[in-house]
Amino acid sequence: MSQVPVLEKVGPQHLELRHPRGRTRITVGCGAFAEALPALAEWVAGRRLFVLSTGGVRELHGAALAPLCSAAASTVDLEVPEGEAAKAIGQAERLWREMAAAGGKRDSRLVAFGGGSVGDLGGFVSGCFLRGIEFSQLPTTLLAQADASIGGKTAVDLPEAKNFVGLFHHPRFVVSDARWLASLPLEELRSGLVETIKMGVLGDRELFDRIEATIDRLLAGDPEALAPVVVAAARGKIEIVEADPEEGGRRRLLNLGHTLGHALEAAAAYSDLRHGEAVAYGLLFVLRLAVRRGLPVAEAERVRALVLRLGLPPLPFLGIQALFELMSRDKKAIEAGLRWVLPRQIGEADEAVAIPLPEIEEELRRFLAGPLGPVQESAGGRAGPDL
Ligand SMILES: NC(=O)c1ccc[n+]([C@@H]2O[C@H](COP(=O)([O-])OP(=O)(O)OC[C@H]3O[C@@H](n4cnc5c(N)ncnc54)[C@H](O)[C@@H]3O)[C@@H](O)[C@H]2O)c1
Ligand SMILES: [Zn+2]
Repeated sequence: MSQVPVLEKVGPQHLELRHPRGRTRITVGCGAFAEALPALAEWVAGRRLFVLSTGGVRELHGAALAPLCSAAASTVDLEVPEGEAAKAIGQAERLWREMAAAGGKRDSRLVAFGGGSVGDLGGFVSGCFLRGIEFSQLPTTLLAQADASIGGKTAVDLPEAKNFVGLFHHPRFVVSDARWLASLPLEELRSGLVETIKMGVLGDRELFDRIEATIDRLLAGDPEALAPVVVAAARGKIEIVEADPEEGGRRRLLNLGHTLGHALEAAAAYSDLRHGEAVAYGLLFVLRLAVRRGLPVAEAERVRALVLRLGLPPLPFLGIQALFELMSRDKKAIEAGLRWVLPRQIGEADEAVAIPLPEIEEELRRFLAGPLGPVQESAGGRAGPDL
């Protein structure tokens, strides 16, 4: 194992998100579930509790929820398929009917126990059932703990587009126990790590340093190493969401790497490119645009080196015109060009930089010829280390 700094063991951290309708209490770290249990138990006491999860997650970690279930008046298990397939309106309708048949009432509670898919669906289902019942998130993937469980966005997909139908419905509690992450496969860790690297680049240099210093342990799914990364990413997301609860301004920062990332994801729909991997490529592209506007090359190369440590699958062949059209359709497109979130340095980013389309096209052409290569082509050869 490579040398990494000794990690101080820290207990679960208590965070809080204030939003227009109240507060979300967020507990993060190793042992977070035991720490939050008394408050969760009080929240479900005397009520019917719906536990939404997948077969796989329940099998791996479901036993942990036993003390919560026994604190409720009664428990009803709701099951959905693994992954994105859970986020379908048909699934939501089936769950509403199961909840109605089980005697669900306005004061019933729901917990979403799983990755971001279960969380998004759980928020949607609870937000609409009887015009809204309280719910909590018990996220079990790195992406869901560091990002998706925080901020109140819920949604299901339509054939037309992902996350097409949804509402803002904040959870009452988010409990992110890093011990649940130990069972994550490498692809899931990698996807989650991309979003945490993004958080570091856009607003938290210390987080970036930490990920860089502990990357081997993070990729090995070590909960003690993952816990402080989740805490820092969650803090960053809370700060941004509190400043901009319904995505009018600062929340756009979270789209760093996503303009091209979403287009790559859509264009490669029939390949195995995952969201996090597409965003990783999106991030590599953005570094090139940012360098043209003042991001120091050495900083950009540090980010590139860290992204490459994740071990990305190769980019499938994608036509530049198709990508261009997909990007222009992106919600953030404006007439003068496309708006980009661009890092100024690691830990600082501008939220809406308009770049003329010909410039993007030129850079994209170069990027697609060697997406993993140095961020800047220099006359004398390569600009960065040969990675
Ligand atoms: N609401 C938001 O603000 C927000 C933000 C980002 C992403 N999202 C959404 O999140 C979803 C992606 O979430 P995700 O990356 O967590 O994927 P996911 O929920 O699809 O889970 C990925 C896989 O990991 C499995 N899994 C879950 N926990 C596990 C564990 N502890 N050990 C082993 N396997 C486990 C799941 O069963 C699934 O097969 C997308 O639908 C995306 O749109 C929402
Ligand atoms: Zn993302």
